[in-house]
Amino acid sequence: MTNSTAASPLFEPAELGPLTLPNRLVMAPMTRNRAAADGVPVPLMATYYAQRASAGLIVAEATTPNAVGQTYPHIPAIHAPRHIAGWRAVTEAVRAAGGRMFLQLQHGGRVGHPANSGLAPVAPSPVPLPGTIFTPGGHRPTVVPREMSTAEIRATVADFAAAARNARAAGFEGVEVHAANGYLLHQFLAGNTNRRTDAYGGDARSRVRFVTEVTRAVAEAVGAERVGLRISPGLTVNGIEEDDTPALYRALLAELSGLGLAYLHLVYADPGQPLFRELRAAWPGTLIGNPVLPRDHIPADGGLSAGAALLAAGADLVALGRPFLANPDLVERLRTGAPPNQVRDAYLMYVGGPEGYTDYPTLAPAPAAP
Ligand SMILES: Cc1cc2nc3c(=O)[nH]c(=O)nc-3n(C[C@H](O)[C@H](O)[C@H](O)COP(=O)(O)O)c2cc1C
Repeated sequence: MTNSTAASPLFEPAELGPLTLPNRLVMAPMTRNRAAADGVPVPLMATYYAQRASAGLIVAEATTPNAVGQTYPHIPAIHAPRHIAGWRAVTEAVRAAGGRMFLQLQHGGRVGHPANSGLAPVAPSPVPLPGTIFTPGGHRPTVVPREMSTAEIRATVADFAAAARNARAAGFEGVEVHAANGYLLHQFLAGNTNRRTDAYGGDARSRVRFVTEVTRAVAEAVGAERVGLRISPGLTVNGIEEDDTPALYRALLAELSGLGLAYLHLVYADPGQPLFRELRAAWPGTLIGNPVLPRDHIPADGGLSAGAALLAAGADLVALGRPFLANPDLVERLRTGAPPNQVRDAYLMYVGGPEGYTDYPTLAPAPAAP
């Protein structure tokens, strides 16, 4: 172990709302498709998350707040008592292992299919997701989503608030509102997916309205200090095209920065980009940065230097995805400089049981003193 590794600010504690985190490493939300077909978390998920409890904070995978919001097969949900009971076993296992957990709330919008949710997907406008979507029967062409009525928008806002209360009842410390990566909230933000001419579409101030209403409602439901917001400015995943990224996120933060939220979570945070510096300056609270790592492998230092660079640029916490997926003891590996496991099989990220899920090895225990 080198002193410089051990002394990294990544391993210093941090305050997050009412919580004290033992380190600044956050397990990023990762969909793993292990829930039962009806969205109930299974015991294997408790094992998986408890194995990773040394993270300063775990943000559990995208979880659907209502039936129509389901994206893919075997996504967990949080809108019925059985979902709460299933998640409670997960949060109890993580707490027993010394960890803390937020739950990510995700409505898929047009990223959905009747074969997955049993319902026709809804979206800001009837603009289909390009290409195909994964269903239990394999990849299928996407369908044109139905445009949400004002009443449906109101009901969806209420569903997010109820889901947040359910998450607290299930033992989560808080929730993360998912406004990133091309799902429903991002579809309202981006001009190519939001063609509305009512109060929810048009200029940037109108396109941020839905995300603002959802976030405010969730904050009222469980307390702003227990609510985070995840955004991915400029990211084109899931067919998103923003033509006014800086103005859009400036408008969003103008609405939300005074709310006292627990954190803002930036996907692909690049400290070299002007927008990163602008958002950092505009956000008065905790900023989680999810650094840009190589797409095809986990770096030899497990993401340590990328995370340290983000902290040096003003982020407060660092979220890592694949490094936590493949390394239950990631914090220990980063602390000691031990090399990380690589993701073994990309296919196993999104299907199946324990293989590629709960069977990643930890470091061998140190030999007992003679
Ligand atoms: C298997 C997998 C599932 C993911 N699922 C989600 C998700 O449910 N919600 C989300 O916001 N991001 C999701 N992501 C994105 C990650 O949170 C993260 O932003 C991305 O993997 C980049 O971080 P990394 O380079 O440390 O892996 C997922 C990524 C992976 C690899």
